Amino acid sequence: MRVRLTVNGRVETADDVWEGESLLYVLRERLGLPGSKNACEQGECGSCTVYLDGLPVCACLVAAGQAEGREVRTVEGLADGDRLDPVQEAFVECGAVQCGFCTPGLVVQAHDLIARVPLPSDAEIREALAGNLCRCTGYEKILDAVRLAAARRAGTSR
Ligand code: FES
Ligand code: FES
Repeated sequence: MRVRLTVNGRVETADDVWEGESLLYVLRERLGLPGSKNACEQGECGSCTVYLDGLPVCACLVAAGQAEGREVRTVEGLADGDRLDPVQEAFVECGAVQCGFCTPGLVVQAHDLIARVPLPSDAEIREALAGNLCRCTGYEKILDAVRLAAARRAGTSR
């Protein structure tokens, strides 16, 4: 089947999509957007998180056909050209990236959190990121990055 969807503001078409194919596969293998990672393919790790019509979802759990006519925003779509999104910058500055496999999903999830809750408490950050697993960082630097991005966005930090 053919699937037409909008990804990062561009209308895209994927042909010969099979019925069981995931949105994650379409993004990575057909549309050349490898930012969203395929770690578990079972909805367990959050590394494939993207926005679908403005809400974060695990792209590995969305059938490609379900994305027909809808809007997807991936981690690649958060940056403004060469300029990283403040959440991406904060992850780099705080050393919240090691192997990087979890990072795209965490960045999208954190981006959503601070859009909804400008200065989240630590409990709110932990709850928002509970579905995103990281094997490397121990999470402390990830929390630091989200705090920094939120503070900058709210204008309470440089
Ligand atoms: S790859 Fe989708 S949740 Fe792990
Ligand atoms: S940085 Fe390696 S899984 Fe998170």
